[in-house]
Amino acid sequence: MSPSDQPLTEPVRLDVRTSTGRYPIEIATGSSSRLRAALDALGVPARRFIVSNQTVWRFHGEHLHEASAEEPILIPDGERYKHVATVGRIYDALIRASADRSSAIIAIGGGVTGDVAGFAAATYLRGIPVVQVPTTLLAQVDSAVGGKVGVNHPMGKNLIGAFHPPAAVIVDPSFLATLPRREFRAGLYEVVKYGVIASRSLFDRTAADLTALFAREPSALLPIVSESCRIKARIVEADERETGVRRTLNFGHTAGHAFEAITKYRRFRHGEAIAYGMLAAAELAAARGVFPAADRDTLTAHIMKMGPLPPVSDLSAAEVVEATKRDKKVIAGRLHYVLPTSIGSATTVPDVTPDELTQALLAIGLKA
Ligand SMILES: NC(=O)c1ccc[n+]([C@@H]2O[C@H](COP(=O)([O-])OP(=O)(O)OC[C@H]3O[C@@H](n4cnc5c(N)ncnc54)[C@H](O)[C@@H]3O)[C@@H](O)[C@H]2O)c1
Ligand SMILES: [Zn+2]
Repeated sequence: MSPSDQPLTEPVRLDVRTSTGRYPIEIATGSSSRLRAALDALGVPARRFIVSNQTVWRFHGEHLHEASAEEPILIPDGERYKHVATVGRIYDALIRASADRSSAIIAIGGGVTGDVAGFAAATYLRGIPVVQVPTTLLAQVDSAVGGKVGVNHPMGKNLIGAFHPPAAVIVDPSFLATLPRREFRAGLYEVVKYGVIASRSLFDRTAADLTALFAREPSALLPIVSESCRIKARIVEADERETGVRRTLNFGHTAGHAFEAITKYRRFRHGEAIAYGMLAAAELAAARGVFPAADRDTLTAHIMKMGPLPPVSDLSAAEVVEATKRDKKVIAGRLHYVLPTSIGSATTVPDVTPDELTQALLAIGLKA
């Protein structure tokens, strides 16, 4: 079904098949104000431990706490707390409350909360169910779906983790009303990513509805969130453990991760680095002749129109190229790179050369 066939604010339910079962994604405006009923209807165990963070709780705790009789477990806010020590604090709280196998974790927050709480759920008593209730745009369209959970290590991001598919994902776009504009925009770049790799209509809709999206209008949000979830769900179903097609989800991420790493994760929100990564991949693909120049220009104009990005003119292309060599996607010494072939399709190639990447980075404004 294309997004335009869908009623604008009707709830959407998707099913994701995994190697161990299936789980639903329910996307409905306002659903978090009926969270307890939604969890009951899904058959989630009655002992529910909400894991959230202080920021999200300050904005939304009042209407969320009725979903569970247990004291919520609030973790500190920030990527630096995506750490085993935070998981340890969750274990402590669970053990103190005698949480058992018939308990569930309800992760309510952005990608950090979802990854940390999901990892606690994956490991506590060798695994208890987790329901993901994502509250950032990035988490709603990306991290809450797919079952990857984990934490960072001082030596690198996401080095410790597990596959632990959620029991369910409950997505309420109205959470996004309180999200800072920069965080919202960072999530929107991932939506653009889905459009480029899989859906021209999603790309066009995002471009056409930009003003309504930034105003967080439910009628604009619901279709793009659900179409993004549908694309991610379809791809992870086809390739749960990222050996093939799931790699296309890394469009923009090879250079993007390098931008993040060389600026020590301080300059860019993840999505912003991905925006640059997509611009570089588009230049590279256009230079190879596999991506029409007109599509590159359309993508570039759209990303520019979305708002300001942190500067890159002081970053050296050589340093970015060097950093991509340390990427997880280096297989047997070759960098697997996702290139767009049109707005709506992408392919993975094994033979991008450092020189090609350098040229692309210079074209988007880096120094030599
Ligand atoms: N598991 C996966 O497959 C996967 C995929 C992509 C990203 N990730 C991970 O996700 C993390 C990034 O997630 P993120 O961008 O959501 O960051 P985040 O969780 O740090 O959230 C961003 C900020 O928004 C605040 N916030 C959350 N919801 C809010 C709301 N409704 N209103 C106001 N403020 C709110 C948070 O407290 C935080 O300050 C990274 O650690 C990344 O590795 C995981
Ligand atoms: Zn990403």
